Amino acid sequence: SRLPLIIAIDGPAAAGKGTLARRLAESLGLPYLDTGLLYRAVGRRMLDAGLDPATDAAEDQARRITLADLERDDLRVPAVDRAASLVASQQAVRTILVDTQRNFARAGGGVLDGRDIGTVIFPDAPVKLFITASPTARARRRWEQMAADLDAPDRAAQIARVAAELAARDAADAGRAVAPLRAAPDAVLIDTDAMTADEVLAEALRIVRSRTGRLTTV
Ligand code: CDP
Ligand code: CDP
Repeated sequence: SRLPLIIAIDGPAAAGKGTLARRLAESLGLPYLDTGLLYRAVGRRMLDAGLDPATDAAEDQARRITLADLERDDLRVPAVDRAASLVASQQAVRTILVDTQRNFARAGGGVLDGRDIGTVIFPDAPVKLFITASPTARARRRWEQMAADLDAPDRAAQIARVAAELAARDAADAGRAVAPLRAAPDAVLIDTDAMTADEVLAEALRIVRSRTGRLTTV
């Protein structure tokens, strides 16, 4: 009856892309793909094999990725954050992962979040969202996701360390030659600094409705 709906969500680290994408997919009855997992899985393989993630050995590891790689529970650790960003700067790695991302949504549409979904993977997506928040807000959010002890005495120092790591990765992702982190010209920007995750979802659903006429429930 209607074209499969594709929603492209991009933005810097810890802005809330994944949280929004998951909830949007659930609300709209669409499949969800966290494309960062693909790069994390390649980075994980490089570390496990004792290879430098900045080298072109990453191309071979990207070819070996299977579903089992994406289901590992050790993909969201700081070493893999860095390794993922290093393999992601390589054109050969990105080329291998393009078909996986396009095929995921070809039949039934989908919500995909990453860095280049609206610019490279689905440049014709009818809905593109660029999710941002200040470096301070993003560092606090990522620290809260990782922190075991919310009353840690060195809380401020820990958050500052996370902020420095996010800044370094965002600079690498936005500054690279291939598929840099960038808002597509037709993306709607949502600055989530002063918003709850519920408010971001409501705003995104409003944008989806205005762009597609799609009802907001399954
Ligand atoms: O996918 P991305 O790295 O952009 O962010 P995430 O993994 O979704 O992490 C965002 C964190 O911030 C989660 O713990 C959310 O609960 C929280 N958060 C949010 O996503 N959106 C807000 N407006 C406020 C907080
Ligand atoms: O959750 P967070 O935003 O911290 O990271 P992620 O979305 O899991 O992505 C990890 C890394 O993979 C990013 O820093 C990018 O270097 C890379 N990435 C990419 O280049 N293109 C994508 N579509 C998704 C992730």
